[in-house]
Amino acid sequence: KSPDLYADQNGSFRPLNNSKGLSGGAIAGISVAGIAGVLLFAGCLYVGLLRKKKEEKIQLLSTVREDQLQQVGHAPGDIKTLDSAGTRDGASPGLTGITVDKSVEFSYEELASATDDFSIANKIGEGGFGAVYYAELRGEKAAIKKMDMEASKEFLAELKVLTNVHHLNLVRLIGYCVEGSLFLVYEYIENGNLSQHLRGSGREPLPWSTRVQIALDSARGLEYIHEHTVPVYIHRDNKPANILIDKNFHGKVADFGLTKLTEVASSSLPTGRLVGTFGYMPPEYAQYGDVSPKVDVYAFGVVLYELISAKEAIVKGNNSAADSKGLVALFEEVLSKPDQTEELRKLVDPRLGDKYPLDSVQKMAMLARVCTHENPQFRPTMRSIVVALMTLSSTTEDWDIGSFYGNHGLLNLMSGR
Ligand SMILES: Nc1ncnc2c1ncn2[C@@H]1O[C@H](COP(=O)(O)OP(=O)(O)O)[C@@H](O)[C@H]1O
Ligand SMILES: [Mg+2]
Repeated sequence: KSPDLYADQNGSFRPLNNSKGLSGGAIAGISVAGIAGVLLFAGCLYVGLLRKKKEEKIQLLSTVREDQLQQVGHAPGDIKTLDSAGTRDGASPGLTGITVDKSVEFSYEELASATDDFSIANKIGEGGFGAVYYAELRGEKAAIKKMDMEASKEFLAELKVLTNVHHLNLVRLIGYCVEGSLFLVYEYIENGNLSQHLRGSGREPLPWSTRVQIALDSARGLEYIHEHTVPVYIHRDNKPANILIDKNFHGKVADFGLTKLTEVASSSLPTGRLVGTFGYMPPEYAQYGDVSPKVDVYAFGVVLYELISAKEAIVKGNNSAADSKGLVALFEEVLSKPDQTEELRKLVDPRLGDKYPLDSVQKMAMLARVCTHENPQFRPTMRSIVVALMTLSSTTEDWDIGSFYGNHGLLNLMSGR
């Protein structure tokens, strides 16, 4: 959980080599060299700053264009601001054998042998775009998605960009294959998806602090694609099935960029279908197709409600499909009451028992409520959501320590309550 895991940019400094073994006469020479060195260093620093400025400009430019496009109602995928700088690397932890090898294009033969000829035994999931297989590829674990579509030229350009987006909280696209059908090769994430943890059988319930952590992780992933990639992305299908859980129970956002890909693929078709999942779409998107980063913020709010309640985004009624209700409406009803505490407790995932700090749950519910505000302008940005969740996560850790030692009194004393 150390914050340096998320150290974003290449801020490493190398120490200057110290010269050893001074000979008496060389001191004058060294001081001249020293001054020259300082000048050189200053020069490098200046050039470095200039470069950084330029990079920022590029980023800004693409953001502006994206915004303008959204205003006229186009999908953001329509314009490409590809440049050789491409996307910027964030934290790129543990380079794998696959990433060291620069090639991102795999042959069908290689993928087939890595998945035991796409055997049923290797199948780990099925989604809207096709089936997912476990693979052992070049000595690394991978997940291969066999897409029910073919790749066009634009599609491939888009894919190349996506392979350059790296962040600790994003599922990494390692490469692809276009022989026969289209295959996407991802890093393998060990612990399944969030939906399985919340509602699947045969899994331990996630402790509250882990839920807060997963919320923070996925917020960081979304913030990264909203603000730090070139071009920027809007996920448009954020939901627990697309939040994967790694072996340390950290969350990673999957399938970002896919909606853009399918748009590229289907732009020749006349259907302007909405991509996304019902229950997660904000009103302005479902009704008018308006796309902005606030679409993801709304869906993120729904995910927060799910972390609290373990209920599905659309809660089925007892009698018929007609009584089903959105999770947003269900929480809204409770949260808009003046005295919500008891009612809110009833919505908390029963598998948590009483092992949760009510104030933390309340804060998360309040955050979810602003995220799912009807008016996109009132929803916060992913950036401020990250800040809010960082605060929540640090106070939740305190709570864990308190419950671990079974001494809430001491904890309250320490936090001045
Ligand atoms: N990189 C991966 N590592 C491990 N499991 C994955 C990976 N990608 C997808 N899966 C599993 O396969 C399932 C299907 O994936 P996907 O095709 O994206 O459909 P959906 O997101 O609708 O569930 C996911 O829900 C997840 O459980
Ligand atoms: Mg998915």
